[in-house]
Amino acid sequence: MAACNPDALLLRALRNEKQERMPLWVMRQAGRYLPEYRKLRKQAGSFLNLCNSPEMACTATLQPLRRYRLDAAIVFSDILIVADALGCELGFAEGEGPFLARPAADEKMIASLAEPGVDAFAGVAATIGACRGELAEDVALIGFAGAPFTLACYMVQGSGGREFALARRLMLTEPQAFAELIDRTTRAVAACLSAQAAAGADVLMLFESWAALAAPHYLDEHVVKPAAKVIALLREAGIDLPIIVFPRNAEQVAGKMVAAGANAIGVGWQADLVEVRAAVGEQTALQGNLDPAALLADRETLRSAIARTVAAHGTGAGGRIFNLGHGIGKETDPESMAILVDAVREFSAC
Ligand code: CP3
Repeated sequence: MAACNPDALLLRALRNEKQERMPLWVMRQAGRYLPEYRKLRKQAGSFLNLCNSPEMACTATLQPLRRYRLDAAIVFSDILIVADALGCELGFAEGEGPFLARPAADEKMIASLAEPGVDAFAGVAATIGACRGELAEDVALIGFAGAPFTLACYMVQGSGGREFALARRLMLTEPQAFAELIDRTTRAVAACLSAQAAAGADVLMLFESWAALAAPHYLDEHVVKPAAKVIALLREAGIDLPIIVFPRNAEQVAGKMVAAGANAIGVGWQADLVEVRAAVGEQTALQGNLDPAALLADRETLRSAIARTVAAHGTGAGGRIFNLGHGIGKETDPESMAILVDAVREFSAC
C-alpha cells in the first residue's frame, strides 16, 4: 500500500504548512453529474452493486480525477455501509435513495445489533487498495465514514429525510437506549476507518451531516463526545492520519472538535468561514465552503462566488482547503466543474 507523497498539497494544508495555492476537491465529486458515472451505475445495475464491487467503485472514484486537476480522490462508498454492518440491512430505492430494512428503532433492536470489526469493512478497504495504485503520487486518497450521530439518525428512522423525528424522539424518551446506539455505532465507525487506514487511505473524514438535528443540550453528548471517541480509538490503534470532521450546520462545535483531536474542520455553505476561523484559530485547517448552487450559475457569477470564498479563507497561517459546502448537485454541468478548478487555481495562487 503506497501512500501518496507526504508533500502532496492537501497533506501540507492539513499540516498548516505554506501553500502555493489552495488544494481542491469536491464532496460527491464521483457522482451523477458525470455522464460516465451514470453509465457505470447503469452497468452495475444498482447503487449498492457499485459500492460493493471494489473494481467498479475504484473506477467511479477515479472518474473525476481523469477529467479534472483535483488534489484528492474520495473513495466511492457510502456512510450507510456502517449501518449495514451493524445489521440494519441497507437497501436502495431507485429514484428515492437509501433505506434500512431493519431499523434500530427501540431498545431491543439496538441491543441485538452486530459488533462489526475491521474485517466487516473489507469491501471498502479493497476499493482503497485498488485506487491507491492508480492515483498519481501527489493526489491524496480520502477514506470516510458517517459520524455516530448522523448514522444513529438513519438507523432509528430507517430512511432519509430532513427531520428524523423518530430518532429525535428516541433521544428524548429513551436516553439510555439512544446512548447505547451511539456507543455501538462509535466503535463500528472506528473499525470502518481503521480498515481504510490499513488499506492505504492518506486522510480520513467524518461526515456529521445531520449534526444540526441535535438540540444544543445534546450536542456535546451525541455529537462532540462520540467524534472524540472515534478519534481516540484511531489514535490508540496507532493511526496517525489527518482527520477532517464535517459538523454540517453545527459549526459552533468546531472549537470543541479541534480539542477532540480533529486536524481540520469541513465547513458547510451556510456558515461564515471568517467566524469559524476566528473560533478555531490558525492552528487548524478549514475546508469549504462554496454553495453548491454556485455551480448552477453562469460562468461570471460562479467565478465571483469562488473569489469570495477564497477571500473568506484569508491568507493567514492556517491550512486552507477549497471545497463546496455540501455535495455537488446532480444537475451540475460538468463544464462548471472545469471552470471551478481553473478559478480556484487562479484566485488562490500566491
Ligand atoms: O464522491 C464522493 O463524495 C464519494 C462517495 C460518497 C457517496 N455518499 C456516494 C453516493 C460519499 C462521501 C457519501 C456520503 C453520504 N452518504 C452522506 C454524507 C454527505 C452528505 O451528503 O451529507 C450521506 C448523508 C449519505 C447517505 C446517502 N447516500 C443519501 C442521503 C443518498 C441519496 C441522496 C442522493 O443524492 O440521491 C445516498 C446515495 C449516494 N451516495 C449517491 C452517491 C453518488 C447517489 C446514488 C445514485 O447513484 O443514485
